[in-house]
Amino acid sequence: MGKMIKILGIIFIIIIGFSFNGIIKKFNTEKQKTEITEEVQETLPPPEIKETTLMFVGDMMFDRGVKSSVDKNFSNDFNQLFINIPEIKEADILFGNLEGPISDIGNKVGSIYSFRMTPLVLQALKDASFDIVSFANNHVGDWNVAAFEDTLTRLDNIGILKTGSGVDKNKAESPTIIEKNGVRFGYLGFSDVGPAWMVAKENSPGILLASDPRLPEIIQNAKNSCDVLIVSFHFGDEYKTVHNARQEKLAKLSIDNGADMIIGHHPHVIQDIEIYKEKPIVYSLGNFIFDQYFSKNTMRGMLFEATFSGHELKSTNSKIITLNKSYQPEGIFTIEEQKKRDEVATFVCDKPKIKYEDMSLLDIGQTVGLPDITYTPSDLVKVSSGASTKNLCLTKTTKNSFEEMVAKAKLDGYVIKVSSGFRSYAYQNSIIAASVASGSTNTEIAIAKAGYSEHQLGTAIDVTGQSIKYTSASDIFENSEEAKWMETYASLYGFIESYPEGKEETTGYMYEPWHYRYVGKDIAKEIIKRGITLNEYLKELNSKTKTVN
Ligand code: DAL
Ligand code: ZN
Repeated sequence: MGKMIKILGIIFIIIIGFSFNGIIKKFNTEKQKTEITEEVQETLPPPEIKETTLMFVGDMMFDRGVKSSVDKNFSNDFNQLFINIPEIKEADILFGNLEGPISDIGNKVGSIYSFRMTPLVLQALKDASFDIVSFANNHVGDWNVAAFEDTLTRLDNIGILKTGSGVDKNKAESPTIIEKNGVRFGYLGFSDVGPAWMVAKENSPGILLASDPRLPEIIQNAKNSCDVLIVSFHFGDEYKTVHNARQEKLAKLSIDNGADMIIGHHPHVIQDIEIYKEKPIVYSLGNFIFDQYFSKNTMRGMLFEATFSGHELKSTNSKIITLNKSYQPEGIFTIEEQKKRDEVATFVCDKPKIKYEDMSLLDIGQTVGLPDITYTPSDLVKVSSGASTKNLCLTKTTKNSFEEMVAKAKLDGYVIKVSSGFRSYAYQNSIIAASVASGSTNTEIAIAKAGYSEHQLGTAIDVTGQSIKYTSASDIFENSEEAKWMETYASLYGFIESYPEGKEETTGYMYEPWHYRYVGKDIAKEIIKRGITLNEYLKELNSKTKTVN
């Protein structure tokens, strides 16, 4: 019996042992499973949030002056209008306001301001990457309902979406949804400037009007079917650069009801941007392509960019697109770049108030001043932007010779520019004042008194170069490669150093390696040949002239 118990005991222990082992094994397997699951979870990349960039441009009208220009300048090829702005193709969604029907049917209902664009425009818009256009504005009915409907069909056929209009009210009210990177971007459009007779009805095509009392409801419904809602308005006062109270009311009402961004157009000029409840209101994009040549503001528009990270608006950016005389966009510029372009375009050189004797070979210096402090050369012209560091003027021959020299230097691999040219009496005075204010102790030998500067002759230049980052009138110019090039070649173009090193006693000024004066090729050759200074030569010349007189 005892033996039996012993055997049973052993069997029991073995069974328990196996079971325990099994439990341990099972436990280990479970643990492993958990670890593997955790590992898998750890190594799974987080869901990627992609960026989506929406771009918006303003009023597009390809009839009237634009059509004539495309016929004449671009052999009827509308694609040529877009060749300078390929960047718009980088948009994930590109939007613009189509200011009239694209059709070859219908009858003209309006005045001389009735637009109808040739169907050739469609392919050009498609090729330029337009995804969606607003077709709710005061010109959509210019060629009656037939052209309006035809436009809707043609847009559908070519695959360009539209907003603000539809074959019936229900279609016009439904947001146009474009899904990008898993986000549903919805577009709605309203016109606040009619035509009221074109309003979409239950069974007839047309547009949405901003005066619709159901506007809040339409916006709320739209927001329910998308993640980000963009509401476009054709509203505001024409040619006014600041928004009005009604625009603000409509924009804020829309945001209060679910809009995430307001995009405005109609004034034909750029208006302000406001942020309301952290949502941008772009009151007016201005013109994108239009034939309003009569003002600077109508010959440009805004490119508004909004970048989303998932559903979240991450950043916005406004750039400027300007039009040339052919109504072709010239390029896309930052606000800063455009400011500089405007300064260059509006800059004009001084003109003399009275007729002066030519002073270009006057022996001007520390002790010889101009006979008249108001002296201004009669033929000052602007130096081209490629040859100057800023807006500045020189006499015509000086400018031409300088630009010729710059071109030669460029061929030799050096980029030379002028950093100071003609200076009026008042400007020279301001330079002296700035030097004194900076605590400089050598103003007298560094800067001529007003009325005593070669710069007032319009023939003196301060040069600088790319290798010294165009630093003006600086000692570092002396050892630059451009300075060496000038020493060798400047005289061949008629330029002579006015204040050479070692000649300070003769010239009365400190050494200025950057300062040259134009005297013409023959005189420059003579000066170099004789190894004298410019002022020595001019002293001689002036005394001879006096003797002859
Ligand atoms: N720096 C030269 C001397 C001038 O002011 O005209
Ligand atoms: Zn100078």
